[in-house]
Amino acid sequence: MTDTGASSPDSDSTLTDGRVDDITTASDMVSAVRKNIQTVIVGNTQVIDHILIAILARGHVLLEDVPGVGKTMLARAVARSFEGEFKRIQFTPDLLPADVTGVNVYNQKAEDFEFRHGPVFGNVVLGDEINRAPPKTQGALLEAMEEQQVTVDGTTRTLPNPFTVIATQNAIEDEHVYGLPLAELDRFMKKLRLGYPDESEEIEMLGRTVGIHPIESLEPVATLSDLRAARTIAAEISVVEPVRSYATQIARFTRENAQIGLSPRGTLQLLRAAQGRAVVEGRDYVIPDDVKTEALVVIPHRIQSGSEQTSDELVRSALSTIDPE
Ligand SMILES: Nc1ncnc2c1ncn2[C@@H]1O[C@H](COP(=O)(O)OP(=O)(O)O)[C@@H](O)[C@H]1O
Ligand SMILES: [Mg+2]
Repeated sequence: MTDTGASSPDSDSTLTDGRVDDITTASDMVSAVRKNIQTVIVGNTQVIDHILIAILARGHVLLEDVPGVGKTMLARAVARSFEGEFKRIQFTPDLLPADVTGVNVYNQKAEDFEFRHGPVFGNVVLGDEINRAPPKTQGALLEAMEEQQVTVDGTTRTLPNPFTVIATQNAIEDEHVYGLPLAELDRFMKKLRLGYPDESEEIEMLGRTVGIHPIESLEPVATLSDLRAARTIAAEISVVEPVRSYATQIARFTRENAQIGLSPRGTLQLLRAAQGRAVVEGRDYVIPDDVKTEALVVIPHRIQSGSEQTSDELVRSALSTIDPE
């Protein structure tokens, strides 16, 4: 037997619309969302925080791992924790760009074309198994992420605000997979891995999910206007000159020691992620430790070491070599 119903949250009492107006309330909102997700996902606490921080920092997230470790479930749980439109795009080899963005269809009655919005028009969009679609279709989503808008038949349409993409990809390379090129990976603020649960986590996971899956009863606990407010608060977190200089030195280290180092866009994303982490920890300023923690998930997928050293190792060596002031 399972107790799947027991953890089902009471949505009315946890929605906090209009209550996020400072760092403390923004941090409380993140705690509520975290708790909500944890009724579905066992373990992976750091990954959950990384995703929530990326959302605060106006970023998009790529979850990469072997099949069956909860990527899709985690992305669904995050998406359902926020009020607003949740859209899921299952990427397949025959998916077309128009299946992502939408198409103009002829309306007989009106004798005119009308736009049928594609699933990219959502507040939280799950791009599932993105590497199963050909590059052109992936490109439609990645362009939307970069521009916050889509253009179909010459007309440009703005995407909703907030608009966040959580994409998943299977790490298993086979012939049916189209790996994302570096330039496109750069559009994701973070690339995260889940990993296998430990023994007790796996037992716990089985207990929760063997019956009716808890995702079925998951309700939103944060409103869109609160998320927008929290994003504004994150963007205003102070980053003093020595911290900016620290981030720059990390970037320069990767440029000197890798074939392709961190782009300035990457450095910016690093500091934004650090601002998000400061909010979650209830601080109104970024400390070097925020930068350190975020560097490990913001940098590796954007660089190419060009040697035996992995990108992860290169970032670690940057962090152990450079001393923040
Ligand atoms: N850490 C976890 N916590 C909760 N459920 C998990 C976890 N890992 C795997 N699962 C469960 O395993 C099943 C497969 O997960 P899924 O998200 O589809 O995997 P993936 O997308 O990584 O292939 C789901 O029912 C999911 O709830
Ligand atoms: Mg999946």
